[in-house]
Amino acid sequence: MPDLLAVKASSSMPAGATAAGEFVYSDTLTKTTGIKKAVAERNNFSGAVGSIWLRADGDKSHVLIGLGPSESAGTAEITSGVAAFVRGVSKHRRAGITLAGVDGDPVELAGVVAEAAVLANYSFDDYRTDDEEVPKLSALTVVADGSLPPLRAAIAPAVAVAAEVCFARDLVNTPGGDLTPAKYADMAAERAREAGLVAEIFDEAGVAELELGGVLAVNKGSVHPPRLLKLTHTPEGADDDTPTVALVGKGITFDSGGLSLKTPEGMIGMKMDMGGSAAVIGAMCALPALDVDVKVISFTPMTDNMTGGDAQRPGDIYTAKDGTTVEVLNTDAEGRLILADALSLAVEDEPDAIVDLATLTGACVVALGDKIAGLMSNNDDFRDQVQASAKAAGERMWPLPLPEDYAKQLKSDVADVKNIGTRFGGTLTAGLFLKRFVGDDIPWAHIDIAGPAFASEVVGVSPKGGTGFGVRTLVELLKTWPSEDEDDPVDSDNSGD
Ligand code: BES
Ligand code: MN
Ligand code: ZN
Repeated sequence: MPDLLAVKASSSMPAGATAAGEFVYSDTLTKTTGIKKAVAERNNFSGAVGSIWLRADGDKSHVLIGLGPSESAGTAEITSGVAAFVRGVSKHRRAGITLAGVDGDPVELAGVVAEAAVLANYSFDDYRTDDEEVPKLSALTVVADGSLPPLRAAIAPAVAVAAEVCFARDLVNTPGGDLTPAKYADMAAERAREAGLVAEIFDEAGVAELELGGVLAVNKGSVHPPRLLKLTHTPEGADDDTPTVALVGKGITFDSGGLSLKTPEGMIGMKMDMGGSAAVIGAMCALPALDVDVKVISFTPMTDNMTGGDAQRPGDIYTAKDGTTVEVLNTDAEGRLILADALSLAVEDEPDAIVDLATLTGACVVALGDKIAGLMSNNDDFRDQVQASAKAAGERMWPLPLPEDYAKQLKSDVADVKNIGTRFGGTLTAGLFLKRFVGDDIPWAHIDIAGPAFASEVVGVSPKGGTGFGVRTLVELLKTWPSEDEDDPVDSDNSGD
């Protein structure tokens, strides 16, 4: 685990904070700071969103953090300001940010600032022995007027969620050769138990006993036995009527494509193919600290997809958990095979809703680019709730259809179903394959995170590499579900933001 930023609350800037940040709006810059516009501009600072101005103040730095025009500055602007600040002052060990001067409830702001700061301060240096270790802050003080306990009460859960996002990032960044299914399940179970969840690991024999045919089929080419990790969050006072959500996540610890081998370029980055499961595990681990009052169970199947001597061959047929026979015509369409079994397990528990996350298709990246996830569902209301949660969490997601007539592409000549459709609409046929195992009775959402699970550049609080995408959406959904007003339409802004 990385050293996470310690976030404190105080009514004054601590003497030890050698970088002190202050938010400014572009339109009131002169009024609030006394700095003339021309002077600021000569220093390339206009108060624009996500820009900072470091001003030497003796041996300290006084830092102005731009929020853009006051009328449009909100959570997103504060988040990108904090990201710029944390990165800009990373050489200082201790920093502070004052909330004075920002419109809004300081308690709410403290949570936003704390979460953004922890997320932006992240770096993955488990494997570095050189001196290039990225400098990081070790402590940040949020300075605000008024009583401190409410501030602390807002900071603690925000930091808890951010820490789990960082945990998910670490898992994604860990090389496939090191994060074997056994090690992955052990690490995740240990953290889950520390967080207060019940964790059960099913080893190869356990997976066979559960008849997870898809997990076993994908695992045939590997020397590393598979795992299934089941986590349970039971809120205090729960009974049989407590609403239950099941989460499912794809845990392919490395995807070579199997015998339908990927190209060298296509294989780079495939250590991230467990990003869906990492997001699910991260979100689960955050729930006890947030007092989420719904019951949540998660199923994360884990295996790599390799080319060993007994690897499944194109044309092989296996029997899935629910009895469906599946003809595997492309061994690189492996995610849906392990997810189908995990979804069947989830359905057996009769939850009130199911959400799965998976780095499932390259086609989704073609459709939406690498920053927006695809969202599919068998229930429009539930899909809207998931999308609203994503929006509130600052994660970009956009709906895609599950056209029933496309499902005939999955008809096999010899088995009940085959695992690929035509070249076109690959994200939708993957979604339709999964839908077959969920049915229509339980509201279900499928989130294809092939693009946003891993980043090629730093954007805002998101680092290069594993992003932890999905943790915050799931947490937001579980905090607010089931919603009272199911018919509330998601607003019509279609930027994907
Ligand atoms: N893990 C990949 C999908 C992927 C691609 C994730 C790029 C992240 C970035 C998945 O297992 C896969 O290989 N899908 C195939 C499906 C095809 C064979 C029907 C794909 O997208 O090419
Ligand atoms: Mn694949
Ligand atoms: Zn894959």
